[in-house]
Amino acid sequence: MTPIRTPTDRIFVALDLVDVDQAVAIARALAGRVGGVKIGKQFFTANGPEGVRRVAEIGLPLFLDLKFHDIPSTVGAAVRAALPMKPFMLNVHAAGGSRMMRAAAEAAATAGDARPRVLAVTVLTSLGDPELAELGMPVTLREHVTRLAVLAKSCGLDGVVCSCSELMAIRGACGQDFILVCPGIRPTWAAGDDHRRLLTPAEALALGADYLVIGRPIVKADDPAAAVARIGDEIAADLHVG
Ligand code: C5P
Repeated sequence: MTPIRTPTDRIFVALDLVDVDQAVAIARALAGRVGGVKIGKQFFTANGPEGVRRVAEIGLPLFLDLKFHDIPSTVGAAVRAALPMKPFMLNVHAAGGSRMMRAAAEAAATAGDARPRVLAVTVLTSLGDPELAELGMPVTLREHVTRLAVLAKSCGLDGVVCSCSELMAIRGACGQDFILVCPGIRPTWAAGDDHRRLLTPAEALALGADYLVIGRPIVKADDPAAAVARIGDEIAADLHVG
């Protein structure tokens, strides 16, 4: 990873909205102030590729968070179908297995220089050890997450989406070049919402996160650009950057 350039250039803002105009207005207000925007299933299901195109034309890098999980040929075809949206990153479930992940990586590679980075979702952060046991997994969450991250890397994937508490274990197992994207981030002044475990942006960056996904503290703010500036001040003060 390149060094942090500005305190907020590692932030991808989760545009968890249905309204395209609102998403476009927020993307416009944040252009040049954050690393990119994340489009997930809610926005995509409501607005499709045309809605994504309208947000993308603002020029911010796009993380297409559709978490593909299907047979290898279908996931490969879905990744190819996503390429015209020119995502900077997209993701698939590691639980789809090695052939599925390889199919995703191969499909992404067909975009050449415009190749999106393909990330794996290891275990959803909404699951804990009791839910894994319920699913018949005889391992701890930490072991399973690390195992899936290593498998994703061996299949040619570029990184994972992970919880802050998994950052150090995955970094240790997968090395410096593996991209670690962390949701569940809250600046000190924001509500925790429905997250069980939270870190501040500076804490997550200090633990080795490459990108931070932050949604509601920015998107629901009266002034999203001011919220980003406030987060930037907090990161700069804690990490002495900027
Ligand atoms: O608003 P908030 O900052 O909580 O938004 C977090 C975003 O990160 C949401 O878009 C959510 O879907 C996403 N997320 C994720 N993977 C997780 C946890 C949250 O992509 N494990």
